[in-house]
Amino acid sequence: MVRKFVFGEPIETEAVIDQVGIEVLQGGTSFPDQWQVVQAETLTLTHCMEPGERIYGLGESMRGINKRGFRYVSWNTDDPIHTEDKESLYGAHNFLVIQGGVCQGLFVDDPGRVSFDIGFTVLDRLEIRVDSGSANLYVIDGEDILDIVRQFRRIIGRSYIPPLWGMGYGQSRWSYPDVESVREVLRRHRENHIPLDAIYLDIDYMEKYMDFTVSEERFPEFAVIVSEMKQQGIHLVPIIDAGVKMEPGYRTYEEGLEKGYFCRKEDGNELVVGVWPGKTHFPDVLNPEAREWFGNSYQPLMDQGIDGFWNDMNEPAIFYTEDRLLDTFEQLKSFRNTDMDLQEFWRFVGLGPALQNNQEDYTLFYHNMNGTLVRHDRVHNLYGYNMTRAAGEAFDRLRPDQRILLFSRSSYVGMHRYGGIWTGDNQSWWSHILLSMHQMVGLNMCGFLFVGSDIGGFGSNASEDLVIRFTEWGLFTPLMRNHSSLGTVCQEGYAFSRPEIFAHIIGLRYLFLPYLYSEFMRAALQGEMYFYPLAFLYPGDEMACRVEDQLFVGQSMMIAPVYEQNARGRYVYLPEPMKLYRFRSVHEYDTEMLSQGHHYVNCELEEVLVFVRQNGMIPCTWFAEGEQPVNIDSVLKADSLCLMCYASEPIRYTLYRDNGLDKDYTAPGKWVSIETDEDGQVHVSDGNTKILHLI
Ligand code: GLC
Repeated sequence: MVRKFVFGEPIETEAVIDQVGIEVLQGGTSFPDQWQVVQAETLTLTHCMEPGERIYGLGESMRGINKRGFRYVSWNTDDPIHTEDKESLYGAHNFLVIQGGVCQGLFVDDPGRVSFDIGFTVLDRLEIRVDSGSANLYVIDGEDILDIVRQFRRIIGRSYIPPLWGMGYGQSRWSYPDVESVREVLRRHRENHIPLDAIYLDIDYMEKYMDFTVSEERFPEFAVIVSEMKQQGIHLVPIIDAGVKMEPGYRTYEEGLEKGYFCRKEDGNELVVGVWPGKTHFPDVLNPEAREWFGNSYQPLMDQGIDGFWNDMNEPAIFYTEDRLLDTFEQLKSFRNTDMDLQEFWRFVGLGPALQNNQEDYTLFYHNMNGTLVRHDRVHNLYGYNMTRAAGEAFDRLRPDQRILLFSRSSYVGMHRYGGIWTGDNQSWWSHILLSMHQMVGLNMCGFLFVGSDIGGFGSNASEDLVIRFTEWGLFTPLMRNHSSLGTVCQEGYAFSRPEIFAHIIGLRYLFLPYLYSEFMRAALQGEMYFYPLAFLYPGDEMACRVEDQLFVGQSMMIAPVYEQNARGRYVYLPEPMKLYRFRSVHEYDTEMLSQGHHYVNCELEEVLVFVRQNGMIPCTWFAEGEQPVNIDSVLKADSLCLMCYASEPIRYTLYRDNGLDKDYTAPGKWVSIETDEDGQVHVSDGNTKILHLI
């Protein structure tokens, strides 16, 4: 049951799109007893947490799967240093579920600043503060957490579904700045038998960092390059940034200016913001007309054969505003004395950092929302969402039958209908493997299914073993992309001493893909999770509820990635007996039956652990001896499957099979039923699928 409580004058975010069956009540009236609500200038909700209550959700945020013990602030922020004290990251996902004493979901739908103090200041107190004082609060009651998630997902609409090749392995780096470097990335992957489906183009493919342009010098005849890559099974995926360069003669700039589609300040002038290209304007993607215009700007690249994009810097990130920079220059004039006192010194060194993402700057510009001017800070968290929506809506108009790859850095609930996300600028730190696992759960709960983190870590130098272990986790995330920053060591699989390990473990992605894709489609089409924490599947098992470093991928497969350096194994907790597969490549593995309880399992650097639940089935691509996956075609063309099974009785699995490109997701014939009988024989409902092996 979903109830909506309206407090003050909420801004319509279009996060919730299906209002059918939702009871609408004025704020305050009969709000559930477990909450104390105070509405003054801000709106504050307080709940006293029982010792056994766990709080799940909040999408992309720091800390654990159970969010207790920290303060989180929904305020989309470009911050590349994800240390455990960070309250805000790139997304705002104000959905949480209390599990334990009560089982209840709450979605705080407000696009301004919202904070969640979950037992940080006071151990047992959960306090939510909505700065604007207005919000639509959706309270969801249900049987259990999965039921609540399903209800939430129904009202926010179906998740974005990428083309299947977008679930293949992608290699990225800031940057592969010219066609030669792109060719080299492809050549070296193929030479080393590392499968690959996509190469990502970071900002240097553009002319002077101008969106929707391509450098003539570095990528001459871009359409020919795109097609040359496609012929070799590679999709090029360019980045698009939020800021549009101020450059006379540049089409997007001239058009935006002429039509009045950029964000303006109170004095009516366009806000001038410094980002990668130097001075830029922000397209006002909250204005429906401007959104349509910005979306259409993707077309020239699509006409050149591009079928995937990543949207960046859309919190929106501000390196500086022109006004503040001028003011800073003025202030600098007052510093002449080299014998500064401490106060003066701090003021001096603070001038530079104060330019970047300055909170005051977010109050200086406006959006034209259907004729009403709204100050940016009131709707801050909607910017990345609407930039990606601009693209997603344009793709639906321009290529109605084709799936286009799309993901974004910044987001709000609702954006999950238009694209996926990556978790921004993580670091080559061991702790960020575990953080990524935690983030996936919160994200899945609010509909973000096509998600992943920069494999190997974006910032800092990565060691070979870190990238291997990161890849062993990343091979289960729907978006599987290795990406790293300018100035760090190269972290492509072939850049290390043992490229064959990368070839083997990335190959496993293509082995598991029939299952991973089916679980993704089930999650998208039925409002399910793709990654489940053990607590969601075994809520009655106290020990399972404490585990935060193992996840279920779909309902049959449990994973337990190694995320500590020099570990050659790890402890796992099994809530029920399971069959362990220890994979070394698509052809090499051993198995072990494990009982319910705690175990220490060995896992060498080049090994990947996969646990199959009792009566679970995991359909995989069948690779004949000597055959290696190359790209997604190796999966699509295979008519044979092998089944990882742990069956004590006849079992059944429904597999999703299609060409990975069409959008008629629910057309008949896409779900194939695979059953085993009493004698261990396998039966398939679709005559084209051969089963070769039960493994
Ligand atoms: C941002 C993005 C990162 C990208 C860089 C340069 O930091 O998060 O992925 O490589 O900008 O475009």
